[in-house]
Amino acid sequence: MKTCLQQFSLSFSKKPRLQLCSALIYTIEDCLTLQVCFFANGQNKKKAMSITYPIPQHILHDLEKVEKELVNSVKSSNGLLTEACLITLKAGGKRLRPALVLMAGMVGDYDLDTLLPIAVASELIHMASLIHDDVLDNALTRRGVATINATWGEQAAIAVGDFVFSRAFEILSRTDTYMIEVMVKAALDLSLGEFDQMATARVIDQSLADYLQKARRKTAALFAACCEAGSYLSGAKAYEVNALTSYGENLGIAFQIYDDVLDIIGGEATGKAAGVDILDGTVTVPILCALEQLGPKSRLAEIVSLEKPSDEDVKTALEIIYNCGAIDKSKDIARSYVDLAINELKIISKPDAVSVFEGIGRFVIERYH
Ligand code: IPE
Ligand code: IPE
Ligand code: MG
Ligand code: MG
Repeated sequence: MKTCLQQFSLSFSKKPRLQLCSALIYTIEDCLTLQVCFFANGQNKKKAMSITYPIPQHILHDLEKVEKELVNSVKSSNGLLTEACLITLKAGGKRLRPALVLMAGMVGDYDLDTLLPIAVASELIHMASLIHDDVLDNALTRRGVATINATWGEQAAIAVGDFVFSRAFEILSRTDTYMIEVMVKAALDLSLGEFDQMATARVIDQSLADYLQKARRKTAALFAACCEAGSYLSGAKAYEVNALTSYGENLGIAFQIYDDVLDIIGGEATGKAAGVDILDGTVTVPILCALEQLGPKSRLAEIVSLEKPSDEDVKTALEIIYNCGAIDKSKDIARSYVDLAINELKIISKPDAVSVFEGIGRFVIERYH
């Protein structure tokens, strides 16, 4: 049964095109679900992004504080820099990483003041990596709006990303030494993963294991760090912190595989253009599954190896992947990582926290954005 509990609007900015974020809180089978719709244009109420995943009401409330801190953190003396950051921030996004930090805090003694800086820094690291990733991937749309590289050019996007990374580390520098270590390690892994991915673009004879190492680095490391940080800072027992870290890593792998699936089947709701991975020659799980079936001499293999595939090539590749059963296989692989993640939760003694983490697991493989 789906019941709407509360509806509210948050005004982020006086600028009309970035005005509104409305949120609905639902209960579905005793679970609170947050659905936030961000509007890129306050006048026309054009929906840019929405999120739906289970979240306890007190975490939802605290995420609003994270949001305010995020907005403050990207302000600087440079108007253009501030504007570019705020456009990316206010265009939406699921805020999954700060949500994970806060939710992991439920495993021990939850204290927002301790968790807040890490939650903010986690989203800033993520945001900076997206800004740079869009340069690397030549992506023109993110969160339903034009990317910084599309609007201001690649040089500006690199500089904005550097600023956002620096802000994250400035915030982290005021926290626990071990937390700095955990988050810095995740940021290092992220850049190594992105670099490995660039170095192996258009290489069709790579294995699932090769892929998984990249996904672990570029995506799962930050998920794991968020879960580790939240549980560690809440004083959870060492075995609980380890279990949550492992949950985060497996969840992150599933998340990246499902993101790859969305690159093939995703619609407008993703806020990103489809087929970017094919265009860039990024060999993702759906591509690997399709290549396994069709072989290295297939038309798909030929397109993935092309330096500059045409729009028609990309369309053909998407159809081939879609029609050969690779999507279902990829979803199964993603599901197996969610199962591994959820399996880690057995030793967590707080049922509230466990059910929230299970819900996030389901969300990751059922989402459409
Ligand atoms: C996109 O992450 C990049 C990946 C790691 C696949 P998200 O899908 O969490 O992006 P936002 O923050 O919701 O836009
Ligand atoms: C994740 O990979 C990128 C980062 C971890 C920064 P993708 O390149 O697949 O992410 P999207 O699809 O652009 O969001
Ligand atoms: Mg990308
Ligand atoms: Mg992607």
